[in-house]
Amino acid sequence: MVNLYLKDDNIKVKVSNSKSLREIARKSGASMEFGCRVGDCSTCVAKVVKGNELLSPITQKEIFALEAMGSSDKDLRLMCQCSINADEGEIEISYFF
Ligand code: FES
Repeated sequence: MVNLYLKDDNIKVKVSNSKSLREIARKSGASMEFGCRVGDCSTCVAKVVKGNELLSPITQKEIFALEAMGSSDKDLRLMCQCSINADEGEIEISYFF
């Protein structure tokens, strides 16, 4: 299991491989906001403070969205587009940065 810390809501959850961050946020009651849920609006952008390497590889949609925002921060991800891609470790995410 992966320990996930949603910093801005002080929520700590244990999650398994392949779980989407959107689903985890919804089930845990996190205040993370979502709009389109398909990688087009950038509402769900968040900073992966720790454990970015434990998430699914960045998608082309994320790259386009982050470029449109003018960001080159490799720790920013769209939470609707990434999932847990590891069996163990620690991930920390901040969505009010
Ligand atoms: S909710 Fe629109 S990009 Fe994630």
